[in-house]
Amino acid sequence: MQFLLFVGANNTLAAEEVAVQIKEATQEYPNVYLFSAGTIDEAKSLARRLGSSIKLAVLMEKVSPDEKSIASAIKEKTFSVSLLGKTGPMGKFHQEIKDLKGKGRFILPKDSFGLSPIINKKHKVDEFFINIEKLQVWTTIWVHNFAHWIKKDRHMPRIDPRAGMLPPKIARSMVNLVPFSGEGKTLLDPFCGSGRVLVEAAELGYTIAGADIISKQVSDTEENLRSMNFSGLLEVLDATHLSTKFSNIDAIVTEPFLGKSKFRPDEVRYMVPGLGKLYLGCLKDWLKVLKPGGFVVMVFPWFSDGKKVYKTSEIIDGKLKLSYNPLKRGIFYSRPDADVKREIVILQKK
Ligand SMILES: C[S@@+](CC[C@H](N)C(=O)[O-])C[C@H]1O[C@@H](n2cnc3c(N)ncnc32)[C@H](O)[C@@H]1O
Repeated sequence: MQFLLFVGANNTLAAEEVAVQIKEATQEYPNVYLFSAGTIDEAKSLARRLGSSIKLAVLMEKVSPDEKSIASAIKEKTFSVSLLGKTGPMGKFHQEIKDLKGKGRFILPKDSFGLSPIINKKHKVDEFFINIEKLQVWTTIWVHNFAHWIKKDRHMPRIDPRAGMLPPKIARSMVNLVPFSGEGKTLLDPFCGSGRVLVEAAELGYTIAGADIISKQVSDTEENLRSMNFSGLLEVLDATHLSTKFSNIDAIVTEPFLGKSKFRPDEVRYMVPGLGKLYLGCLKDWLKVLKPGGFVVMVFPWFSDGKKVYKTSEIIDGKLKLSYNPLKRGIFYSRPDADVKREIVILQKK
């Protein structure tokens, strides 16, 4: 069966998450990926794993893109039809379908990606997508659990926006850059903060472990995990000394300390070497923590002083190359308000 996965952001992180977790998926439109799966349940469980996914549609083999055929496929009271990859007035088309049915109501899509998941769920909409070139009709079969994502973002027991918490969906996508499914593997975040990465890893079935240099962060992580009935081995520890407490780890996924959030352009020249030294110390120590073939997914900040861009990921180009294979670089995500660009890098211990 063929499926279309709609992702929330057209960025390199979403693209990489899909590439790692859904083999052979191809990008059809900026936010839309095509893939095959044996059953609807299998496709839904793939969509459910991803942080970037927001909607899933299945190809309706027996429905053609005309008013009559679509009208006969409508089961709910409310329907909506969008043109994939195109925008244009759809009012007449909707009205004709409604007239053919003789009942029901429609909601006009806001763009070629159809309705928002909230509207879709709230109004129980039969949502269709038409691909005019290929004469295909698709229908939405799943939308992401937005209430659960909002809960994890805004209603955890310990939340401190100043501490630079990762949005849960970004944390989930980062965990998914490791090519595992979670079960039977141990994932460690050495800069765990309030535990955003660890909550996502636990939801995916990983055994989790974490550390932070500040004890309050470790207790915040513990409390946040407990509120979701998860637990893990947590330590107050400098990330460059992880090997004193941890070993046999399958994957390290982390957003480390990224430097001061506000800085003057002239401070960049001092900040970058300091961070480079920290990250180098970490990556050397983590060789003792990771299993052979273990993965590191880590955020490296890029700074600019107005004249030059300083990329902290350049430390990988030195001696570390003897111990780690850089599998992927240049995966980006940025907060809208951030001065710092964040490059996510995937390394594999040799
Ligand atoms: C950017 S925050 C991580 C936030 C986390 N991803 C979240 O969303 O909750 C970085 C964390 O690194 C911790 N930290 C700073 N220097 C450290 C070090 N040398 N070793 C371990 N943790 C450190 C800070 O206390 C902070 O909690």
